[in-house]
Amino acid sequence: MANSVVVLTGAGISAESGIKTFRDHNGLWENYRIEDVASYDGFLRNPGLVQSFYNARRAQLKEASIQPNPAHHALAKFEQEWPGEFLLVTQNVDNLHERAGSRHLIHMHGELAKVRCQKSRRVFETFDPINPDTTCVCCSQTGQLRPHIVWFGEMPMEMEQIFAALERCDLFVAIGTSGQVYPAAGFVHHVRGDARKVEINAEASAVSLAFDELRRGPASREVPAFFDEILRLRKSQ
Ligand code: OAD
Repeated sequence: MANSVVVLTGAGISAESGIKTFRDHNGLWENYRIEDVASYDGFLRNPGLVQSFYNARRAQLKEASIQPNPAHHALAKFEQEWPGEFLLVTQNVDNLHERAGSRHLIHMHGELAKVRCQKSRRVFETFDPINPDTTCVCCSQTGQLRPHIVWFGEMPMEMEQIFAALERCDLFVAIGTSGQVYPAAGFVHHVRGDARKVEINAEASAVSLAFDELRRGPASREVPAFFDEILRLRKSQ
């Protein structure tokens, strides 16, 4: 019987909310070079370009049309009703999980709605655009604020807590992620051999073979159905 549950989400869970994925047709990485907008070297070379890339994505979160979809809501409901341990780990930098009501949540790749002072490492919540001339409120200097985003070559956040939860979970579910970016793509290998491993995705991922069960289809349909099933099973036991 599943007691401890870990869920990993990727860009696919937010696709039906109107936020572009990275690697699908017309995804973000078809229109931008990773080394330009998602690396520290890129930021040093052209901070204005990098800030404007994240400013646009941050601004999108405030558009009225961008709302959590039934998959985000299903995870928040599951967290509320599940009597066991639950951890939601997201690679997404949007805020749709928390807007749906998820609380026990780790943003392993950072958050669009936060910026960080490179001097003090203090993190600030903001929806305002940042540019190379923006003065930092803590060090009073310009050019010190950067997006609170994990770029390629940087260490994802809260890894110790994530690996500890993976090692003791009975059910691991990966949703809407292509399995191409590590360490998240390798989480399934950190789960105990006797734990149930389920992948919910529109298509096969690069790590589908490591899962016991594959559910193909849109997250807005498959996620509520799967988690209702888990809650029903638990109540019947
Ligand atoms: P990807 O764009 O690589 O993969 C999205 C996955 O979601 C694909 O496998 C799609 O088939 C699937 N998908 C698309 N629409 C879906 C839907 N409606 N329902 C279910 N599945 C759907 O995004 P991630 O795997 O999240 O990192 O990418 C991982 C990391 O790569 C990102 O966090 C980002 C990126 O570079 C950083 O920026 C550090």
